[in-house]
Amino acid sequence: MTTDDEAAVETIVGEFASDRSRLLDIVEAVQHRFGFVSDTAVHAMAARLGIHAVEIEEMVSFYAFFDRQPHGHVRIRLSRTPISIMRGAEDVARAFETALGIGMGETSADGGFTLQWTSDIGMADQEPAALVNGRVLTRIAAADVPAIVAAFRDGHREGPQCMPNAVVRSSLVQAGPLLTGPFDPNDGLRAALTMTPDAVIAEIAASKLRGRGGAGFPTGTKWRLTRKSPGREHIVACNADEGEPGTFKDRVLLTEFSDLVFAGVTIAGYALGARQGLVYLRGEYAYLWEKLQAVLRSRRAHGLLGANICGHAGFDFDIRIQLGAGAYICGEESAMIESLEGKRGSPRDRPPYPTERGYLQQPTAVDNVETYMCASRSMAKGAAWFRGFGTVASTGTKLMCVSGDCARPGVYEVPFGITVNDLLDLAGGDGAAYVQVSGPSGQSVAPKDFGRRIAYEDLSTGGSTMVFGPQRDVLDIALQFAEFFVAESCGWCVPCRVGTTLLREGMEKIVAGRATLSDIAATETLAHTVVRMSRCGLGQSAPNPILTTMRSFPELYEARMQHTAFVPRVTLQEALADAVQAQGREPVAEAV
Ligand SMILES: Cc1cc2nc3c(=O)[nH]c(=O)nc-3n(C[C@H](O)[C@H](O)[C@H](O)COP(=O)(O)O)c2cc1C
Ligand code: SF4
Repeated sequence: MTTDDEAAVETIVGEFASDRSRLLDIVEAVQHRFGFVSDTAVHAMAARLGIHAVEIEEMVSFYAFFDRQPHGHVRIRLSRTPISIMRGAEDVARAFETALGIGMGETSADGGFTLQWTSDIGMADQEPAALVNGRVLTRIAAADVPAIVAAFRDGHREGPQCMPNAVVRSSLVQAGPLLTGPFDPNDGLRAALTMTPDAVIAEIAASKLRGRGGAGFPTGTKWRLTRKSPGREHIVACNADEGEPGTFKDRVLLTEFSDLVFAGVTIAGYALGARQGLVYLRGEYAYLWEKLQAVLRSRRAHGLLGANICGHAGFDFDIRIQLGAGAYICGEESAMIESLEGKRGSPRDRPPYPTERGYLQQPTAVDNVETYMCASRSMAKGAAWFRGFGTVASTGTKLMCVSGDCARPGVYEVPFGITVNDLLDLAGGDGAAYVQVSGPSGQSVAPKDFGRRIAYEDLSTGGSTMVFGPQRDVLDIALQFAEFFVAESCGWCVPCRVGTTLLREGMEKIVAGRATLSDIAATETLAHTVVRMSRCGLGQSAPNPILTTMRSFPELYEARMQHTAFVPRVTLQEALADAVQAQGREPVAEAV
């Protein structure tokens, strides 16, 4: 790195007002400019920010999208999920290896290309998919690969923009009452501004809206708790991390209904007395950045953000988008807040909850993208209208993301309370032998339970619905999910860091047909321990695919079990032979 480069790093830090809390943006800009984050860059950033270099190193090492070493000019990250594998991702990987002359995880000798696997990138409806230098390629067939590589080789760092693979389909297959137009996306905001902030919160509470990110916490209660928490300022945060494999509804909302979502964030800003809204956009959705910034600019120009919004004197509010950098755990709200503050995405101990002390220790309401969309529509049409859909405990509609073995993958807006069977009928998933509801951290549902309902009181879900036909290996899919959690554990606590690895090993043995009944029982016991002892929701739900497949498909575990008596490969005497020779004496009988 030259002196000019050091100066460039300093300029970048200056562009973010040497603000430590903007470290994620600073490092992203440095990575973008130089292709990696060198030692010199780390020290230049640390000096300019007045912090220790170690703080930057530990943060950079946490995120998958930051590199401490140079990599290929073109970086191909191929999505590896059970769905992508079913759709031929391994053939696509082989085709890239052949075309580039390198293996997965390698960089070509000329520094032109790096090829690697990555976790789900939010494209389960159009796999196999890849991220290439921040752009998304979808529906890649092995036969497409030579042309894709040629397009990059021709010097187009942006790649094959005119190929069908460069298109991300929106995939809203069925709009329901909330998303069927025409409607003005700002009607809800205008309605809110005719009320007092407390009345807005009461209206949201009356709608019985519950968080769409998965946990189902009542949104009105969260807003009320946040508003009444004392603080210098109140913060509204929108969780657009959408990292749960098989989920892509927030991508669709941000693509087609971003005004409606931003209006919902602004309604929350008014209700909470906030001046600042933060949208945490997963790094995989960087391709939406320009479009969303344009929407924000337009909202400012139309008086829908900024000072005195919609002419309402004293209501000043704006929204900033924070791009993530490839870490599933950053969807967990407290990890997301750490990341928003420019740190590693490690979950915080609770209490205090974000509603009391969140972003920069200020009261913060974190809600999912879909929750803000629902808040917008509910304010526009009224709480009674919203409550008219769904069930008593789960009001409104839910966006379900269906992928896998079905004729019509995509997003379906359905009333809460519909059965898994109903959803399979809509998406053409007849013949399904297994459905994974709510992603790897959710539940494995067998056909005998397809009559169960999508609702907080039965099958609670963030929306991911992966459909698997009878030709799929349920246990191998559970193993792939176990691998996902090993990769995504933040490593902070032992039960999750070590436990997820041991669970993967247990599943490997089971899938390979080498596990005895006691191995399977030990894996189940360990799974319960990881659920009980882990510090945050990731570890607490990581064993779900194993535990729920054990419950739903015991016959598959039984069939794969090793039934022959256990014959150890070595005897204790053999194992101790060296020690016996060194000691010159035999062990006493009781010790053996
Ligand atoms: C490991 C983990 C990942 C999560 N990922 C997301 C996510 O990508 N998007 C989301 O909205 N919530 C996610 N959550 C839930 C959030 O912690 C939080 O409950 C949610 O954003 C609250 O918004 P809501 O009340 O509107 O659902 C995740 C939770 C855990 C434990
Ligand atoms: S449970 Fe896992 S993800 Fe959560 S803090 Fe512990 S190690 Fe990190």
